[in-house]
Amino acid sequence: MKLLSSKNVNPLLPYNFLVCATLYSLGMNYNYLQWSRARYARGLNLEEAYSRGHKKHLLNVQYRMHPSISSFPNREFYDNKVLDAPNVKQRTYEKRFLQGNMYGSYSFINVTNGIEDLDSKHSTKNMVEVAVVAEIVSNLFKDSVASKQKVRVGCISPYKAQVFALQEKLGKTYDIDGNSDFSVSVRSIDGFQGGEEDLIIISTVRCNRRGSVGFLSNCQRTNVVLTRARHGLWILGNGATLMNSGTVWEKLVLDAKARGCFYNANDDNNLAQAVVGALVELNQLDTLLKIDSPLFSDMRWKVRFGDDFVRSMTTMKNINTCKEVFSLLIKLSSGWREHDHQMDNVLDMNGTCSQLLDVYNVNGFLNLIWSVDIVREYSKYTQVLKVWDVLSLTEIPKLAKRVDTIFVDYEVEKINRCKCKKLKGAQEDKKKK
Ligand SMILES: *[C@@H]1O[C@H](CO)[C@@H](O)[C@H](O)[C@H]1NC(C)=O
Ligand SMILES: *[C@@H]1O[C@H](CO)[C@@H](O)[C@H](O)[C@H]1NC(C)=O
Repeated sequence: MKLLSSKNVNPLLPYNFLVCATLYSLGMNYNYLQWSRARYARGLNLEEAYSRGHKKHLLNVQYRMHPSISSFPNREFYDNKVLDAPNVKQRTYEKRFLQGNMYGSYSFINVTNGIEDLDSKHSTKNMVEVAVVAEIVSNLFKDSVASKQKVRVGCISPYKAQVFALQEKLGKTYDIDGNSDFSVSVRSIDGFQGGEEDLIIISTVRCNRRGSVGFLSNCQRTNVVLTRARHGLWILGNGATLMNSGTVWEKLVLDAKARGCFYNANDDNNLAQAVVGALVELNQLDTLLKIDSPLFSDMRWKVRFGDDFVRSMTTMKNINTCKEVFSLLIKLSSGWREHDHQMDNVLDMNGTCSQLLDVYNVNGFLNLIWSVDIVREYSKYTQVLKVWDVLSLTEIPKLAKRVDTIFVDYEVEKINRCKCKKLKGAQEDKKKK
């Protein structure tokens, strides 16, 4: 679909430029235009200007977006006919807002564990994406304070319910009207028409197997939303849903993959923690606890939950403790280990247990009991992180005895493999630091 038809506004071009170019093509004198540009810029309805039947060989130059941001909309909506102005191609136009490849000028961030939630007015929201946006904004804020850099962030979602949820979450913490060094504005696509920000975070919300994306598929809106950012554009969405949508969003995901701008939210520990927090709050423990929990699928260590652990978690009353447990698990599954971890003074265990089990404190009172285990998958043996239970110290010996009866059946070879990988993980972690 081409958006250069006369009916459509061209949201890519700066307002003044557009008015100017439009009138130029209507055959007006250029000097006159320079002079009256400001006046026109205020009053003229672009849609109207376009529909007056003028020709469309506009000289299309865009001055707003870093080239990595303009690349996709340019190809998709403008036949690659829009040129990047020299100013956006300068090195200084590329700004770093956060450390990590995921936070470059342009990226798609795959948030897979979201949950679509229809509100009473039939608008959709996704609290997991809200949590991810909030986490990113919180990190931006910390960075902005530390570096004393002015940052203006815009959060956009096509769905009113999501905009509202984001405003509720962010409005309490940050300046929303934009007067301080760090400001966040949260708006719908329509609310952003004509606007721009240094950094834009888009929450696409939809997350379902059908690939149903509703009015997200509207090309003109998509064009608007993708062309608001100056230095950074981070698009959050469920990669699979968008890929199945058969819309321009499918192309967007493919394009991001092809350009190496596609990232999984769970690859960033902070974002993974935010996802878990949201899922716990949404009472989605089942999702978190199922075998091959999607949360841990991309992690360095696969995680397997023991029945006792699942039981303890599902009966856990305190939401914060629950979050802390998963938080610790995410760290463990990404390879983090406590240094100089001393088991001996934590508890007095005999048998194989003492060699294999590890006890990590969760919150002072509770402890996570885990070990490395070997599972058979597709006729291959793989090391996994087995989580036995979460218990107070006094309850641990009982578990240890039970687990020992399981370890008794392990051959020496298998036990050695468990120990071996455990050490390797710890070493790898040290190297990283
Ligand atoms: C998004 O991430 C999930 C799990 O992390 C993965 O299974 C899925 O393939 C990813 N989506 C795409 C489009 O790559
Ligand atoms: C471990 O073994 C010692 C001596 O063999 C015994 O005194 C102690 O009670 C055992 N501890 C546990 C937790 O079974």
